[in-house]
Amino acid sequence: ERQEVRPYNRQRLLVVANRLPVSAVRRGEDSWSLEISAGGLVSALLGVKEFEARWIGWAGVNVPDEVGQKALTKALAEKRCIPVFLDEEIVHQYYNGYCNNILWPLFHYLGLPQEDRLATTRSFQSQFTAYKKANQMFADVVNEHYEEGDVVWCHDYHLMFLPKCLKEYNSKMKVGWFLHTPFPSSEIHRTLPSRSELLRSVLAADLVGFHTYDYARHFVSACTRILGLEGTPEGVEDQGRLTRVAAFPIGIDSERFIRALEVPDVIQHMKELKERFAGRKVMLGVDRLDMIKGIPQKILAFEKFLEENASWRDKVVLLQIAVPTRTDVSEYQKLTSQVHEIVGRINGRFGTLTQVPIHHLDRSLDFYALCALYAVTDVALVTSLRDGMNLVSYEFVACQEAKKGVLILSEFAGAAQSLGAGAILVNPWNITEVAASIGQALNMSAEEREKRHWHNFHHVKTHTAQEWAETFVSELNDTVIEAQLRISK
Ligand code: G6P
Repeated sequence: ERQEVRPYNRQRLLVVANRLPVSAVRRGEDSWSLEISAGGLVSALLGVKEFEARWIGWAGVNVPDEVGQKALTKALAEKRCIPVFLDEEIVHQYYNGYCNNILWPLFHYLGLPQEDRLATTRSFQSQFTAYKKANQMFADVVNEHYEEGDVVWCHDYHLMFLPKCLKEYNSKMKVGWFLHTPFPSSEIHRTLPSRSELLRSVLAADLVGFHTYDYARHFVSACTRILGLEGTPEGVEDQGRLTRVAAFPIGIDSERFIRALEVPDVIQHMKELKERFAGRKVMLGVDRLDMIKGIPQKILAFEKFLEENASWRDKVVLLQIAVPTRTDVSEYQKLTSQVHEIVGRINGRFGTLTQVPIHHLDRSLDFYALCALYAVTDVALVTSLRDGMNLVSYEFVACQEAKKGVLILSEFAGAAQSLGAGAILVNPWNITEVAASIGQALNMSAEEREKRHWHNFHHVKTHTAQEWAETFVSELNDTVIEAQLRISK
């Protein structure tokens, strides 16, 4: 049986995610430019190279006309990407609605919509219907491009319905599903009206993966408690069929970051940044502007630190890069105003005529600018209230070989389980504790910084995105073979 499987490096991989690694911007009737998309999923998937991979997903724009669709399909093909075209109504109901107003907050322990968010969610049923319809549209495109022997790897909370749709098309298809967010406690998941249907659809996959063991455990508990199925150390069993469930912690392409620091433009940029902030320690936050990232909490902790440590006021600066995201969802609009209000207040309070304590940017930086910034940073602050993994912490560590800066990391990020030995772990809700950690980080001895950095750097260098993908795909192949053997017995 084993010989039938092509070696992994020749096996085709169909990676299906709501968002393609590139997003399209229309320049003319039939011309498009492509930009790298934001977010952890994309930055990890970009690190996966040694596969013959095709990407299937949404390019982030509404393209109602055929001319535009044809031109975009062609432009994307050069990047090995295949578009799924979603119209405005579907995007509104499926992406803004069900995915980002319901599943995303729920999976990050922010609960189901209440009060004003409820008003936008009365249409829960129609959003769920749109969610299933969108997943079916993804399945159609996968099915059209599928060739026998391909591995189909579905990603994230947008596509929980996809494994079921794919198996309905072809029960022999090898289907894996991976969640990039936390999977919450089963007590949280059971509040979701469509809880059972989603679990059952995911279970149609052959292999289900999570970033941490805890998320996998929560998922198995949800299946046993809500569906009454049997949880085993291997996964979840339903009438003799096993869905394998396991943890596969993701990583980054660390070499890409390390190499970038040798590029002359990056070196020049680092020099400029050092001059610009001479005499001050640089603290850095890089996040999508999302409520799960705990940006207000981080800034309030920084304020408390300044309040209590007058001598540091002109010796430290916080650079917060907040990449706009999901701007059509009202919660995100409110968060933007809230953050602006807090930053303005603190800068008004502690700023001088010539400098301010917080530089807040509502935009993304290009890769080289980001690497330069990571490299000149003394203390990075990741204060997610919940986060599937958080690869910003990995990227920072990868760029710190020279400086050996300190990482302050939320214990609620998946990364806390891998970088906990080197980072200062904090509860982001405890502003007093985060403020104290800022002081600890700024005053840390060179020996301690070096020791902590070494732990994390070693981890980030050895646990790469490529290795993560290889492990998942080979486990998926093995799972399918084992299932065939079990049936033939
Ligand atoms: C997180 C999710 C990804 C998502 C990314 C950016 O990392 O896990 O699936 O692509 O955020 O969000 P967006 O809504 O812009 O795709």
